[in-house]
Amino acid sequence: MKESEIRKNYTKLINKLTKHNKNYFEKSAPTISDREYDIIKKEILDLEKKFLFLKSPLSPSGSLGYKPSKNFIKSKHRVKMLSLSNAFNIVDLENFEKKIFNYLNKKIEFEYSVEPKIDGISASLTYKNGLLVMGTSRGDGTTGEVITENLRTIKDIPQKITDKDFPKDIDIRGEVFIKKNDFNALKYNFANPRNAASGTLRQKNTSETKKIPLNFIAYTYGYFIDEKIKKQSDFLNSLKRWGFKINENNKILKTVKDLVNFHKKFENNRFDLEYDVDGLVYKINSLELQKRLGFTANSPRWAIAHKFSADSAYSQITNISIQVGRTGALTPVARIKPVNIGGVVVSNATLHNEDEIIRKDIRIGDTVKIERAGDVIPHVVHVDLKKRNKKSKKFIFPENCPSCGSETVKEFNRVTKKHDAVRRCTNEGYDCEKIAIEKIKHFISKEAMNIDGLGKKVVENFWDLKLIRFPQDIYNLDYDKISKLDGWGNLSVSNLKYSINQSRNVSFDRFLYAIGIRHIGIENAKLLAEYTKSIKNFMSFISQKKFNEFLNIDGIGDTQISSLKKFFNNKLNYSVIKKLSTILNVSDLKENKNGKLLNKTFMFTGKLLDISRAEAKSLIEKNSGSVVSTVNKKLEYLIIGEKPTNRKVEQAKELGIQILSQKEWLRLLD
Ligand code: IVH
Repeated sequence: MKESEIRKNYTKLINKLTKHNKNYFEKSAPTISDREYDIIKKEILDLEKKFLFLKSPLSPSGSLGYKPSKNFIKSKHRVKMLSLSNAFNIVDLENFEKKIFNYLNKKIEFEYSVEPKIDGISASLTYKNGLLVMGTSRGDGTTGEVITENLRTIKDIPQKITDKDFPKDIDIRGEVFIKKNDFNALKYNFANPRNAASGTLRQKNTSETKKIPLNFIAYTYGYFIDEKIKKQSDFLNSLKRWGFKINENNKILKTVKDLVNFHKKFENNRFDLEYDVDGLVYKINSLELQKRLGFTANSPRWAIAHKFSADSAYSQITNISIQVGRTGALTPVARIKPVNIGGVVVSNATLHNEDEIIRKDIRIGDTVKIERAGDVIPHVVHVDLKKRNKKSKKFIFPENCPSCGSETVKEFNRVTKKHDAVRRCTNEGYDCEKIAIEKIKHFISKEAMNIDGLGKKVVENFWDLKLIRFPQDIYNLDYDKISKLDGWGNLSVSNLKYSINQSRNVSFDRFLYAIGIRHIGIENAKLLAEYTKSIKNFMSFISQKKFNEFLNIDGIGDTQISSLKKFFNNKLNYSVIKKLSTILNVSDLKENKNGKLLNKTFMFTGKLLDISRAEAKSLIEKNSGSVVSTVNKKLEYLIIGEKPTNRKVEQAKELGIQILSQKEWLRLLD
């Protein structure tokens, strides 16, 4: 063989390996089995041994060409690792404070602990009696991968803490990251420092992790019982005393105005920092107040991430395509000439909806400004009219669904008294191809059935191969056929089988969320599940068309009811659920049987003192009681605040329902 041919062959193999590294590290979606990966690696190493002139920075013989493992042990976090909601401007911050005041039913003054948001990956470290006993990645927030040995290689992470104040049992949480300078040496292998940190940390081979200079900055705790520490800033100081690195730019500020000023200053100087920072985190400093405010489904009410403004670039629109979402929304997407924005190559940008295209008069062929911020999908800011071709024509938005041809509508919103900006396909079910695919993608997603062997791309692939048409088909896959497909090996098929089988046991609220009813997100699914307790009860409400019964649930209103009606009017939707309920083991909701208010139902009328409705409701639910929103025989207690609705009080009296003042109610709870 000629030398040029050997080189060509070698480069081909290196490129192949790099592609699979990327699929694994960056997309977390490997397309080949471990064995197949090993074969490519071996071919490269054999060639290098035979022909000494072959060399590449991407070779597995170098420090980075290692094989990542998918097989870390998993561990459930004692306290969930949640994410933060984002703010992009002063209005978002004001709304954040407003929500807090509403929740507390009072305007109060508080301090913020302000901390730079390092763009790395979070890790949780469990210390018992001063010794580091376990370290995990965030995983899906509930369960993480056990990566203790890799974390031990990080010099910033103490293995043993002797300070006498150090808690006996605590999870310390923080960010693992790689400095910009160190990343420069690795940039051929990873798209950005964050991926480099993530990939390195998840190495099966600890000695490989050791070679890369990772850093750790601590910022919070998971499991921890302490009465003495009262403020986040005090906790940060304790962390430092105990031997952890904390961010040297942490600060305490008071008002939104202070936050915005500091943000502006910090944003301008952030390029001087040694590491990537994508925003600031603001946390209410008082730990007691944090506890009162609690959490929504995914993030704390007491903290927010204030992102830095977007990076942007100009590019040309080559086409506009229309995507159809799970709920039928038609989203126009600009296909653009690929352009690098802040280290990421962008080739698509959302145009949001039809109105946006009209308002900005966006046309195919236009040169446009594209903005990208964090993980948010890049979008078109404006058109550079000077560069517009004189012959260009306005973009005509399709009036029929590009997937199934159904009529599309802009719904009338009863709250805003306006027609929606979003055009929707009127087909609610599985007979619109694109909607069906999106429904299945939603079904398998993390928060829903959590079938991690079956990514979005795999769903599309299986759809094209006619292996799936409905969610229930997932439980009847032809594994023989799959194992013969390109990119599938025995290991990946058995992983797929395993995660599908795991998903057969599912709680009712997750299942309800997974079937993907519009306006029934995680929170509403929980409310419906808590009210009906089991899928059997729920389906009997549905088959008897007792939709209005759900109006009893605080939080469920007309929007959700009409969406439920529309969804179940569709026979296919109904039959999918019936089928799934015979295949899956959907567990009933267990009642919290310990609370003082077990089996008691409450309703509020009038304004409460020093506590919002939301907090009052969560207090009742924490004590096993429930809150309803209409006066009927099922109601036991009507709690009266300031200026109650007379009609409700009268009705309650007529039905012999007990009436309590706020004080009397709180006495029930001690
Ligand atoms: S607090 C529930 N503090 O941001 C509290 N997070 O979107 C959540 N992060 O996964 C964590 N710097 O990876 C917190 N000073 C900081 C942070 C920080 C970076 C990351 C972390 C987390 C994500 C939240």
